[in-house]
Amino acid sequence: MNYCRKLFLFTSFLLTLAGPCQHLDNGLARTPPMGWLAWERFRCNTDCNNDPDNCISEALFKTMADKMAEDGWKDVGYQYVNMDDCWTAETRDSQGKIQPDPVRFPNGIKALADYVHSKGLKLGIYGDLGNLTCGGYVGTTIDKIVIDAQTFAIWEVDMLKFDGCNSNSIEKIIGYPKMSFALNATGRPIVYSCSWPAYEGGLPPHVNYTLLGNICNLWRNFDDIEDSWDKVLSIINWFGDHQNVLQPAAGPGQWNDPDMLVIGDYGLSYDQCKAQLALWAILAAPLFMSNDLRKISNEAKKLLQNKLLIFINQDHLGIQGTRIKKEQDMQVWKRSLSDLHYAVAFLNTANYGPPTTFTTNLFLLQIMHCRLGYNIYDVFTDELVGHYRADILSPCLHPHHSSIIIIIILAFDIAHYRIFETSQSATKYTVK
Ligand SMILES: *[C@@H]1O[C@H](CO)[C@@H](O)[C@H](O)[C@H]1NC(C)=O
Ligand SMILES: *[C@@H]1O[C@H](CO)[C@@H](O)[C@H](O)[C@H]1NC(C)=O
Ligand SMILES: *[C@@H]1O[C@H](CO)[C@@H](O)[C@H](O)[C@H]1NC(C)=O
Repeated sequence: MNYCRKLFLFTSFLLTLAGPCQHLDNGLARTPPMGWLAWERFRCNTDCNNDPDNCISEALFKTMADKMAEDGWKDVGYQYVNMDDCWTAETRDSQGKIQPDPVRFPNGIKALADYVHSKGLKLGIYGDLGNLTCGGYVGTTIDKIVIDAQTFAIWEVDMLKFDGCNSNSIEKIIGYPKMSFALNATGRPIVYSCSWPAYEGGLPPHVNYTLLGNICNLWRNFDDIEDSWDKVLSIINWFGDHQNVLQPAAGPGQWNDPDMLVIGDYGLSYDQCKAQLALWAILAAPLFMSNDLRKISNEAKKLLQNKLLIFINQDHLGIQGTRIKKEQDMQVWKRSLSDLHYAVAFLNTANYGPPTTFTTNLFLLQIMHCRLGYNIYDVFTDELVGHYRADILSPCLHPHHSSIIIIIILAFDIAHYRIFETSQSATKYTVK
């Protein structure tokens, strides 16, 4: 057994001991959940008369489920087909139960769940703790929490995003834990996504991340994403600025959620799409695309289905990465993966000037456990960059917000989980 192997076993042992010990005990979301969520792309479009293909309806979710199953999404791990706001009828039924809009969901939510399940996928639903949802639809007041949890379970829903419009802070302190217990009491495993911290500024003392980890599987910390790089970058920067609070809160079963992926939409350049996915992988973020899977470009699809980025995102230790350097327009982010592998992302946030070369080495990146050196791969090009020990590393980054992500792998461990095939000039690899 060589030095690196021993060190790896010892470190894995320590990480196991140090991992978050308390989490929502429903056995779900042990790695960041992946899927599709309607909101950013389809919003509150309820106009099925004039826009039948894009309105919030049974038909839309069935079509997206078809696409998820047919076009390779399911095969790489995208699993949840999630509804968002604007699905309910105007009022509860005569027994006080929440109900879908009868025109847009003519067969009800149970039938939709059955359909999604028949494709090997899972269905997520949306609720809001408060008098009304953010879009003005039927909300879940505290007295309705138990009945709504039961209704969702009877419909065989698999995930709940619980928003927080139109309730105050005191109601949230009562309501979010109450929904957690109510979901548990149904006996159905339902991933629980809490929007709570985003309504309280995302930071202590208003937000208690220990408590969130005990009651929610994931939570939205900060602003809603929009289809723009400015918004994506503001989220990345906020996560970097507050990583001392956020990073320890994440782990298997409990994730910080920087919000949806807007890759495949209208607002980001290709480099910016790469940057969003790279950072979401480093952050161990839930991967919920909000795009139109019927119209997505091959380029965006290939990126979102990049197996190595998903592999990084889904690493089973669930250690959220951190920003280890921020220097003018250059940021370096790093995530520790299992088996002493690392993922490193270089992000150039400049919106001017020529491509920039960033010079560093493994010592500066604090990757130096293995005296034998490391193999470095470029995740986007699928290429082995080379074997490094003390050598200079100089990734070149385009302006206008580009990222390069590299995965750094211990030399000894290659055979363990990579299959190599040499093709033309580059050494290609795939995740086993
Ligand atoms: C409910 O909670 C208990 C104890 O925390 C746990 O063992 C059980 O798996 C949970 N059930 C569901 C359906 O979440
Ligand atoms: C919710 O509705 C109740 C009853 O109308 C009202 O008293 C309360 O202020 C409302 N809460 C919010 C946060 O709007
Ligand atoms: C945060 O929540 C945990 C778990 O409920 C609790 O033990 C702890 O006292 C809370 N911390 C603060 C500062 O309120």
